[in-house]
Amino acid sequence: MFARNFKRIIPRVVNLSCGLENVVKYGQKSFTRNIAPASIRVVRYSQLRELDELKPVNIGVIGCGRIAQVHIKNLFNIRGVNLHWLVDNKTENIEQIQRYFCLQHVNGYNVDRLDGLLDDPSLDGVLVLSSTSVHTEQCCQVLKKGKAVFVEKPAGETIQDISHCFETAEKQKQVLVTGYNRRFDASFQELYSSFHNGSIGKPIFIKLTSRDCPRPSIEFLKSCDQEGCNLISDMAIHDIDTLVWLTKAEQPESVFVQTHIHHPDMVAGGWEDAVMMMLKYTSGIIACIDVVRESKYGYDIRVEDNTEFNQGVIQHIHSMRKSPFLYHRMQRFDWIVFGDQGQLTVGPCRTTSLRRDKASGSTTSNLQYSFLDRFEKAYKNELEHFIQCVRGKEKSSVKKDESLMTWLIIEKALESWRNKNVVYF
Ligand SMILES: NC(=O)c1ccc[n+]([C@@H]2O[C@H](COP(=O)([O-])OP(=O)(O)OC[C@H]3O[C@@H](n4cnc5c(N)ncnc54)[C@H](O)[C@@H]3O)[C@@H](O)[C@H]2O)c1
Repeated sequence: MFARNFKRIIPRVVNLSCGLENVVKYGQKSFTRNIAPASIRVVRYSQLRELDELKPVNIGVIGCGRIAQVHIKNLFNIRGVNLHWLVDNKTENIEQIQRYFCLQHVNGYNVDRLDGLLDDPSLDGVLVLSSTSVHTEQCCQVLKKGKAVFVEKPAGETIQDISHCFETAEKQKQVLVTGYNRRFDASFQELYSSFHNGSIGKPIFIKLTSRDCPRPSIEFLKSCDQEGCNLISDMAIHDIDTLVWLTKAEQPESVFVQTHIHHPDMVAGGWEDAVMMMLKYTSGIIACIDVVRESKYGYDIRVEDNTEFNQGVIQHIHSMRKSPFLYHRMQRFDWIVFGDQGQLTVGPCRTTSLRRDKASGSTTSNLQYSFLDRFEKAYKNELEHFIQCVRGKEKSSVKKDESLMTWLIIEKALESWRNKNVVYF
């Protein structure tokens, strides 16, 4: 019974989220349509009171693909935000977004009408969510028109391009936030604080793992860097950014990269689907990043000792669990940052925290399926941060020197990949 009613409520809640304009309208007209359960109505009314003090922020979106669906949904949950423009070079992608979110009232234009968006004086900010190859050009066009920019990672595909974006933002005195979403994840933020308050002493190892699920579409892969190794520039970029963020943009001493192509579809496209890279820092930190394009068991983001997933070692772990002392020792293999006084771990997240212990063995629920599940809250947080920056209440937390260091590491890693040797900075 509850399940049946719940199904009826859900589409209405989604409707409610179709734009704050709608919410305000419904609020003033006492919800002329029966669109929300009472509890939701109460939350909305209390927000409306606060709205009086907020200047509305008008937003445009360029690029209506996969990640746009995440950000547009999150925009609706931020108080005082209106969505005014949807732009893409494929009309069907705009229409899909309009249908999905009931946004037929929002202007949807092909990219040849970009001038319309750029010259709209009511727009405060733009989300640049198009393919990476056009980020720099579109970012700078928007910034030069005096509007704030949230750009999906990366802002450009060369150090010069990324630098150009930041310089344009500085010159125009405009906000520029790059979507490095992991920085906005609660676990990664706690890791950052613990790392810097000295709780684990001197850092020795940092190990990061990213195993994507599902494998991105061939169409998406074709939109990525085709000359280099897009597994590094598109995916490992998140781990590299985490490393840069943790080390406060310390320049590594050297990097060494090994890659391989496993899946037949990836062989056809010439796209590496497994990479491992090792970085050495003058401060003594040794960092290791491993990334794969497809993990069959779910989206796996963490730092760990790979051998845990080796069948033999899993059995070994089970036998070790019989001894609390040995079990405690085994746990040491699962670290993210290892220091001379302790370690910090951010593990993969599961769909539920339920664990079944039986005589025959123990099971837990699956890992969360994809980045959309794992970083759902982080995507909300980063967009809220952007809107707060537009309102002048926060400063962009993704800095120029960090973004440039991330790309410098990518360039050196690509050089190592091409030449198959250690590259020094
Ligand atoms: N932070 C993250 O976790 C994360 C996750 C996924 C994607 N991304 C980034 O987001 C960006 C988009 O990725 P996606 O997965 O949504 O890709 P996608 O291919 O699904 O979407 C890109 C959209 O941009 C449109 N587009 C392409 N060129 C355009 C142009 N010149 N003008 C306007 N629109 C244009 C395409 O038609 C498409 O609708 C990429 O830069 C990617 O690196 C970030």
